[in-house]
Amino acid sequence: MTAGKNKFGRRAFMSAALTAAAGAGVAGDAAAQAAPAQGGAAARRRASNPGLYRVEADVRDCEVEGKIPSDLDGAFYRVGPDPQYPLRPGNIPFDGEGHVSMFRFRNGRVDYRSRYVKNDRYTAQAKAGRLLFPMYRNPALDDPGVKGLSRSTANTHIINHKNLLLALKEDSPPAALDLLTLETVAHNYTFDGQLPSQTFTAHPKVDSETGDIVAFGYEAKGLGSDDISIFQITPQGKIVWNAWVKAPYVGMLHDFAVTQKYIVLYAIPLAFDAKQMQAGGIHWSWDATLPTYFGVLRRGGDGKDVRWIKGPTRSSTHVMGAFSDGDKVYVDCEMSKSNPFPFMPMRDGASWDPVNGASRIVRLSADLSKKKTSGYNIEEMYPEYLGALPRQDDRYNTMPYRYGFLGSPDPSADPAKKGNASYVRFDHQTRKTSVFNAGPNTTLAECCFAPRRKDAPEGDGYLMGVATRHDEGGRADLVILDAQHLQDGPVATVKLPIRAVGQIHGWFVPGAQLPSGG
Ligand SMILES: [Fe+2]
Repeated sequence: MTAGKNKFGRRAFMSAALTAAAGAGVAGDAAAQAAPAQGGAAARRRASNPGLYRVEADVRDCEVEGKIPSDLDGAFYRVGPDPQYPLRPGNIPFDGEGHVSMFRFRNGRVDYRSRYVKNDRYTAQAKAGRLLFPMYRNPALDDPGVKGLSRSTANTHIINHKNLLLALKEDSPPAALDLLTLETVAHNYTFDGQLPSQTFTAHPKVDSETGDIVAFGYEAKGLGSDDISIFQITPQGKIVWNAWVKAPYVGMLHDFAVTQKYIVLYAIPLAFDAKQMQAGGIHWSWDATLPTYFGVLRRGGDGKDVRWIKGPTRSSTHVMGAFSDGDKVYVDCEMSKSNPFPFMPMRDGASWDPVNGASRIVRLSADLSKKKTSGYNIEEMYPEYLGALPRQDDRYNTMPYRYGFLGSPDPSADPAKKGNASYVRFDHQTRKTSVFNAGPNTTLAECCFAPRRKDAPEGDGYLMGVATRHDEGGRADLVILDAQHLQDGPVATVKLPIRAVGQIHGWFVPGAQLPSGG
């Protein structure tokens, strides 16, 4: 099915913007994702103060509607903020301690487990019985007793590496967890001391040919520094490449793109705000006077070749896929015209704009064979769909790819009926879409693709994600769809008896990469 008539109103824009917020660090108990169904100021208040959940759970042999496919073997991991203590007034829901959950599929059955990341920050606060790190990425307000401890919430994304699960927050090194028990085994995982940066992105990429992790850290030499460190880690854990570049200004570099030939960084005007921090505020504010920069460097080089190509004021925080063709580089990502986060301060004091804050999928491109470029290209690919959490078949992170996925308000649904949350599959070859609508009064977390088997063709497998049912007190279903037939509805729905912990991002690990006996 192709896209229907555009029926978006203010509610849909609000929905997309708050979902964008979820993607970059929000949504402790999925309240930010729940909030859009209500719309308006109340939604923004709830998104900014999601409340406490804090339930670590084990549900063995979960109830399933339909049938878990026999070839679905592995684990779907999710992570999000779940504040130990209420957020301090003025803080934002990007903060809150990381809580990891896992759906483990095996032999047509599924178990659910969730555990907090018990790193420096969590354990110090648990011991004290109170908040010790009260403001998002602003250490000035920290309790004096925590000086020297990592401030990491480990609440943003999660990947597997060397038989470990790495919980990621972009201001710190990862925390490492056991893949099966979810117990924290390393508070600060620095790859045996090799990590060249003080920080590690929440969005590393897996090289499609070698399986190496390509990652970066920004503010890599300390708070507010304009240093970016980019590096490549083998599956065995050896750092085999490192380059350093300077940012055009210090801003949020939440995601990046990697092709077989290039690294692409994208500077957006969510800028470091020292003045605001000195006044006790958060790390960022939206500076509408700043341009964007599309920053490209060769992989394997020393970083001196970096080119920062200037573009209009925009926001983009998540990449769907990227590839290069000779000297041409293409990055598919979500993009909004202004600040996508309702709770992120506007430096000029303007009101947040829900229409210009809504994100759509665009293709950015640049031709690097030209010595001088006047800018980079922005092509809007699917204007009917709003959403900030695009995904792909992750085996294609660094290669040309055909299929993308996104949680979006369903443009064919009536927004007045609160039944518009959907997952969309994009076929970039035909530019056609297919849609799964999750039903009334439901919100959907970010989706994740699981290949049917290791050597399955691109896009052949399952798309899964957590649906929060607001008519049932926020109880969670995990919907599992045939990724090639979203419109047919779930092949299986895992019916949790409880709410699931909130999610920013998720990651599927095939059974062959899990410890034996798991
Ligand atoms: Fe993200």
